[in-house]
Amino acid sequence: MQSCSIHHCVLFFLTLTFTTVPALAFTSVTVKLHQSATLPCNSRCSGFVKWTMFHNPDYILAQCDQTACRSEKGYEVSHDQYLQGKPHLTITAVDYSKRALYTCQCDGVEVCDVRLVIDTLMSSVQLNPGEALVMDLPVPEPVEVIYKPIDSAGLYGEQICTVTQRSLQCKTEYTRRASLSYPNITLRDVNMSDSGSYTIRDRKNDEVIHIYTLIVKVVQPESEGKLVSHWVHGVIVGILLLILMIVGAGFVLKNWHVKRLKKEKADLEETIKLNESVTEGDNHRQRANSDAEAAQLIKQMLKVDTLIQQYKTESVRTSQSWTSLNDIPVVELLKRKKAELDEILQGREISEQDTIGQWWSLKRPELDAIIEHWKKYDAEPDQIIQVEQCSSAQELCNQ
Ligand SMILES: *[C@@H]1O[C@H](CO)[C@@H](O)[C@H](O)[C@H]1NC(C)=O
Ligand SMILES: *[C@@H]1O[C@H](CO)[C@@H](O)[C@H](O)[C@H]1NC(C)=O
Repeated sequence: MQSCSIHHCVLFFLTLTFTTVPALAFTSVTVKLHQSATLPCNSRCSGFVKWTMFHNPDYILAQCDQTACRSEKGYEVSHDQYLQGKPHLTITAVDYSKRALYTCQCDGVEVCDVRLVIDTLMSSVQLNPGEALVMDLPVPEPVEVIYKPIDSAGLYGEQICTVTQRSLQCKTEYTRRASLSYPNITLRDVNMSDSGSYTIRDRKNDEVIHIYTLIVKVVQPESEGKLVSHWVHGVIVGILLLILMIVGAGFVLKNWHVKRLKKEKADLEETIKLNESVTEGDNHRQRANSDAEAAQLIKQMLKVDTLIQQYKTESVRTSQSWTSLNDIPVVELLKRKKAELDEILQGREISEQDTIGQWWSLKRPELDAIIEHWKKYDAEPDQIIQVEQCSSAQELCNQ
């Protein structure tokens, strides 16, 4: 009986019924939930007719005699039909509490037995993976939940849960995900392998109450494609942003570089002016004031040092901007400075005490080296570019 098919169960039940109540014509009426049902009884009765449920014979649902019919709420018997020998019982709205075997008696003798059955409810549920299947439990009787996988070839499924006295018991693989919140059985976190049918079967009445057909949506390859395209999209946007940042940074750097070059140029021009005034001063008031002269010399020394530092800066030395940015005559400035200092310090004894003389004896070779080195760059812009290209691609220049 546990896992018999509906047909087998009904057959079994019929056999059982015929065996125990062999004298009665047994009828079964099946209706949909909440609809009205008419339980037929074709039996001419001139006396007292009463309808009861088989299991509760003291509670009269409807009764008729020659004068009139009376009935409980939700039940009706037509007096006209009683008189015609058709005391049918009408149930106005069927619910699960009205499922029963009904008996009609004529003067205390059973004349009709009719079983009321409610159609099995069928639901189709589509869920996304991770969602919950909620199954309604409309009957107070013990039920079982039978699961049959969607791809199962077998006729019967397997019992996965039972509910008795509002308490849920499930197979171990379902205990974590299944719960009962009366009247709902909930199966949480469904996935593709949960697709199939879930049958709620009334064990006491051996009736199938509800069959839920669950389809858990397959994660479409399209959405994987979408994921990939999102990914590709992200990468492209990332690359574009990176390019924008590099271009932006380049622009900022170039601006900064040009500003710096302009500032350096201004500094150099100031130095030239200063040097010119110093030289003039020296010419006019030669050795008029040795302290003032020394101060000027120190100033010169600092300027030369600054110039050399500027020259040493890699960006200045290698930048082509020098020639394109109004041809700053750095080498001219250095040459002039060298000449000036040579003149100023000419014939000066380079003694232990003469710090300026000592400084110049150190600085002069460095200045010479710079001037020599600069000669390469002291050319037309075209030639400079050529020189630089040659350093990176020797074979081109050797042609
Ligand atoms: C049972 O499920 C239905 C439908 O999902 C919901 O509306 C209702 O609130 C639930 N009842 C309980 C007691 O969880
Ligand atoms: C679905 O869930 C079951 C039980 O939780 C698990 O064994 C199975 O691997 C899952 N399948 C998929 C496709 O996630």
